[in-house]
Amino acid sequence: MSGRPPLNESVVVITGASSGIGRAAALAFARHSARLVLAARGEADLREVATQCEAAGAQAEAVPTDVADEAAVQRLAQRAVDGFGRIDVWVNNAGVMMYGRFQDVSSQDFRRVIEVNLFGQVHGARAVLPVFARQRSGVLINMSSVWGRIVSPSVGRDTRRCYPAPWRSIRARSTVKRSLHHRR
Ligand SMILES: NC(=O)c1ccc[n+]([C@@H]2O[C@H](COP(=O)([O-])OP(=O)(O)OC[C@H]3O[C@@H](n4cnc5c(N)ncnc54)[C@H](OP(=O)(O)O)[C@@H]3O)[C@@H](O)[C@H]2O)c1
Repeated sequence: MSGRPPLNESVVVITGASSGIGRAAALAFARHSARLVLAARGEADLREVATQCEAAGAQAEAVPTDVADEAAVQRLAQRAVDGFGRIDVWVNNAGVMMYGRFQDVSSQDFRRVIEVNLFGQVHGARAVLPVFARQRSGVLINMSSVWGRIVSPSVGRDTRRCYPAPWRSIRARSTVKRSLHHRR
């Protein structure tokens, strides 16, 4: 989609922004003075990152959100639009890691990985794509993993077997979305 504003005028939503890659991305966007809407479940850590982004020169709003909850993700997108009028970049980054032999991991924990790592991204895309379509511009970034591309005996056979599944699906879904877009 075309008409993307420069970074210092862009509104950027990042899920999983309170730690690791999401936090680093938030601070990097902040150094370019982007307007940030930051999401994660833990409110205290999220607010601390928002404060650090503001200290770096950005406007930043912390919106505690569980990405497994579609209604909450819809509210997150609405907060960004209400607060800043648009969304230019949405980073689907929130994710959880689970270690364990396949037979030792409970179905409940397996389901949670799928709900957060896969459905969290589905919920993000469903919330933001209508906004991008209205604006006729926008960038959706889906965090993935090397385990979406390769198979390793240590991961594929017994440990972390549940972990690669969402990433393979996300990679396939992102490829489909890209090709649909290019057909327009
Ligand atoms: N680090 C790596 O080597 C690596 C490699 C490949 C892929 N990845 C993927 O990259 C992403 C970031 O990884 P990371 O290492 O930076 O992870 P991290 O440091 O553990 O950070 C994860 C972030 O996601 C948030 N989060 C977790 N569950 C959430 C939920 N249900 N709703 C909203 N936010 C949630 C966490 O905050 P709360 O717990 O407060 O919600 C935190 O902000 C993840 O998707 C991960 O699977 C990481």
